[in-house]
Amino acid sequence: MMNYKDFYQNSIQNPEEFWKEQANQLTWYDFPSTILSKDAYNYDQWFADGKLNMSYLCIDKHIQDGYGDQVAIIYDSPVTNTKQKYTYNDMKSEVGRLAGALKKLGLEKGDTAIIYMPMIPQAMFSMLACARIGVIHSVVFGGFAPHELAIRIDDCKPKIILTASSGIEVDRIIPYKPYVDKAITLSTHKPENVVVYKRHLGADVPDQPYDLDYKSLVRTADIASPISVPSTHPLYILYTSGTTGRPKGIIRDTGGYATALKFSMKYVYGVAQDEIFWAASDVGWVVGHSYIVYGPLVNRNTTVIFEGKPIRTPDASTFWRVISEYGVSVMFTAPTAIRAIKKEDPQGNFIKEFDLSSLKYQFLAGERCDAATLNWLQQQLNIPVIDHWWQTESGWPMLSNMAGVELADVKPGSATFPVCGYDIRVLNDEGVQVDASTEGYVAVKLPLPPGTLQNIWGNPERFQEGYLKPFKGYYFSGDGGYIDEDGYVFITGRVDDIINVAGHRLSTAEMEEVVASHNSVAECAVIGVHDDLKGQIPIALAVTKSDNLLAESVIQEEIVKDVRAVIGAVASLRMVLIVDRLPKTRSGKILRKLLRSIADDKEFSVPSTIDDPNIINEIQLAFKTHKVGIN
Ligand code: COA
Ligand code: AMP
Repeated sequence: MMNYKDFYQNSIQNPEEFWKEQANQLTWYDFPSTILSKDAYNYDQWFADGKLNMSYLCIDKHIQDGYGDQVAIIYDSPVTNTKQKYTYNDMKSEVGRLAGALKKLGLEKGDTAIIYMPMIPQAMFSMLACARIGVIHSVVFGGFAPHELAIRIDDCKPKIILTASSGIEVDRIIPYKPYVDKAITLSTHKPENVVVYKRHLGADVPDQPYDLDYKSLVRTADIASPISVPSTHPLYILYTSGTTGRPKGIIRDTGGYATALKFSMKYVYGVAQDEIFWAASDVGWVVGHSYIVYGPLVNRNTTVIFEGKPIRTPDASTFWRVISEYGVSVMFTAPTAIRAIKKEDPQGNFIKEFDLSSLKYQFLAGERCDAATLNWLQQQLNIPVIDHWWQTESGWPMLSNMAGVELADVKPGSATFPVCGYDIRVLNDEGVQVDASTEGYVAVKLPLPPGTLQNIWGNPERFQEGYLKPFKGYYFSGDGGYIDEDGYVFITGRVDDIINVAGHRLSTAEMEEVVASHNSVAECAVIGVHDDLKGQIPIALAVTKSDNLLAESVIQEEIVKDVRAVIGAVASLRMVLIVDRLPKTRSGKILRKLLRSIADDKEFSVPSTIDDPNIINEIQLAFKTHKVGIN
């Protein structure tokens, strides 16, 4: 095993040489002669004059190398009782013909397409088919409602939408196609066509003039060859929650991303080619993009696409059944999934029923990992359980014990050390690095390594303002944390209004907009509070208008319904407190941070700018009465 410190230092001191060598692990149509340069916005870009194709790297390359019969995808769907395998040869046929069909529909390099699908192989085929012909895809998570989909349609203006008739959440049919139709009625931009993969699960699929049948299109299409695109050509746009009501479209390049993913499979996840890798997430999130689809396939692994939940499909044994049935080597999930399993099976009786000897490492990310969950899983599995930290913007891990390099001792609560390429610092308000063990803002010294965000789709100012301007010379992560005397980095949580609910990133500002639009609400605040299972859950505090005649319970019910209808079930807003007033500064700004601290029973100092300190007692009482937070 090599030495982490030297390997890491080399990546920071000689980034161009380091990443050129990693880029060399891929097959390029034109290998880049420029490694690191500046784009039109004077921001760093990788491999600018290189040319390649992601779909080629994920499929055709492996067939050319003689691995066409290796299984590329295992589809395991307890909710439909389906198990299917696709080899790399099958992938070429499925992806190539779908790409051929899209070409025939007039899609060209640089066009955009939205993919709104459940966890089925066709979601992956759609992503790879777009990549094959240079179409920029944007996958939207199925838990988002039509209104959210419409916002994304208007932002990235897709030529087509690829969807499925329906999905299943445990036992509830999710009507994907009707949601798409509703979104199109809400959006200003109208896509030309909607390609529908029909599943026959009993859902109603009304025909629209713009509909096309996925299966018929693919049946009659020729296999399209992968086209050569510049390394900087956007592979995808992935929307994520920001601090305002509008989600931001993170743009990912092609060559930097492929290089980073290939690197991470070997050095972060320690997974060998042809091993089985399973990220139990959803293709709608960044984890799904990087580690269900592109990472494992670039690395010629077998990847698992799992249409189910850690519990209730049918029970808390599902994860262990999948690992043992397919011989999974490395697995990735969110701590909330483990907490859900632990709640149902605290003694780990299900775990003992299965042969898990194939499993080398268990990775966790997506939210802060509490020590109790980490220790429980560690004891149950008796293999390294690795908490690692990253985000939609980075696209791949920023902090991790690097399983393919050298495993350090674990300190629960820390995702250990920076991954190669990430020069992570903790800064104070003035942008000065703080002392060891002092909390501050987590930032990464520029340049970021390959594979990280390129910009925000259609909004370069927001990219500058949100990420680059807060601390000159650094990328600002939006997280707080500290680095201890031994160099272990601890992420303590977001310093903005983004919350993390069951590993899903959500914006409280967006929920506030919905709550505020209720007729009876004069003003409101939405905050994230601690939850034992989901990590955090949102709660709304609302002050009613003086002329309101509705009963409190009616307002509460309607607000919960509104948030579900506008943002989606995934928002999980279930609690609305009607209060007489909200804590504010003298200039009228709501003190959300104070509200969060009171709810989570954290120490706080009363801000000197507070309008009336007596309100603190009122809020404490309201939280106590409604059993909010951990106390
Ligand atoms: N499509 C439609 N609806 C969805 C959805 C999807 N893809 N995903 C979630 N929802 C719905 C759920 O059905 C639920 O609806 P309900 O309020 O009617 O019950 C709601 O959104 C909230 O979902 P969730 O927060 O996931 O709660 P849950 O009780 O269904 O499941 C866990 C709890 C912990 C089991 C589940 O959240 C989980 O497995 N989390 C892991 C998350 C993860 O992998 N994150 C990716 C980062 S690695
Ligand atoms: P997302 O962009 O949806 O992946 O969410 C990213 C955010 O989740 C980060 O900014 C963190 O706030 C949080 N997060 C992800 N992984 C971890 C982790 N291992 N520890 C603490 N927080 C995490």
